[in-house]
Amino acid sequence: EEGRLQQGFQDRVDAEEKIEPRDWMPDGYRRTLVRQISQHAHSEIVGMLPEGNWITRAPTLRRKVALLAKVQDEGGHGLYLYSAAETLGVSRDELIGQLLSGKAKYSSIFNYPTPTWADIGAIGWLVDGAAIMNQVPLCRCSYGPYARAMVRICREESFHQRQGYELMLALAQGTPEQKRMAQDALNRWWWPSLMMFGPSDEQSAHSSQNMAWKIKRFSNDELRQRFVDATVPQAEFLGLSIPDPDLRFNADTGHYEFGAIDWTEFNEILKGNGPCNRERIEARRKAWDDGAWVREAAVAHAAKRKQRALK
Ligand code: ACO
Repeated sequence: EEGRLQQGFQDRVDAEEKIEPRDWMPDGYRRTLVRQISQHAHSEIVGMLPEGNWITRAPTLRRKVALLAKVQDEGGHGLYLYSAAETLGVSRDELIGQLLSGKAKYSSIFNYPTPTWADIGAIGWLVDGAAIMNQVPLCRCSYGPYARAMVRICREESFHQRQGYELMLALAQGTPEQKRMAQDALNRWWWPSLMMFGPSDEQSAHSSQNMAWKIKRFSNDELRQRFVDATVPQAEFLGLSIPDPDLRFNADTGHYEFGAIDWTEFNEILKGNGPCNRERIEARRKAWDDGAWVREAAVAHAAKRKQRALK
């Protein structure tokens, strides 16, 4: 019976049918989706922090409006994704508990600091650029609620990427000091952006099964390569240089070859030892505690309405 269900499930996946919440699915499929979707949701919510750091100090009103909108979008993406995870039978409280206790991961990239305004440009350009590269294929993920959530999220991410690139362009064409700031931000964000795609294919524990289930469509290394190929010409247009002495275009393959990634740095961040890991979790804990009265008020309000409806 189990074998027949497994086969029927895989046949549906292979036929590109969407799997919906009430459909039968293997336990492993459910588990990996809860893991990936909740990590993704946490990343959006924690990802609000490095940029939120600049909302009060954006240099113009126009920049401030754009940054506010972008950070709000990220909050929206997080809530959307928590809802998608909830369709798999896990509660939001449980997921948030996992984040606050350090049990759940969120993207390594959000553990780096944002000391200058150019970091906001670099995050939009590189971090959101990498996010889109990874997330556009997720619009075709086999799990319906996740795939559908990704459509809107990707449209918004593409606006985020453009605002970041436009900001970098303004700095790169600005005073020598502004250009220096832009280059410094690129130097700090380049390698962490490449790490966002996850461990190399040989090290990636989940890739092959996730690709068979059509959750992932491309491997970590494939997406990383696409990102490098798309981004190097953008850096050239800005007149900035990629901080990688080994970077070179291979005319035979049509791809850029790049230097070795420092996986020690990546693994340390995953263990909680990055520059801002503690600060990020602390900020989320404080937000959770400070929001307790809102949750209590919402529950009390719902109870009152129910009472009134009964009368
Ligand atoms: N940061 C933190 N952890 C990571 C990262 C990263 N950049 N990349 C991989 N990992 C973790 C995986 O979660 C996994 O850990 P786990 O087994 O404890 O859950 C482990 O490293 C091994 O990696 P993989 O086997 O390659 O894991 P997976 O197949 O899930 O691929 C990936 C990782 C590519 C990140 C995938 O989960 C994914 O596409 N997620 C959705 C996109 C997403 O979360 N983006 C967040 C950043 S973008 C943004 O929020 C703007």
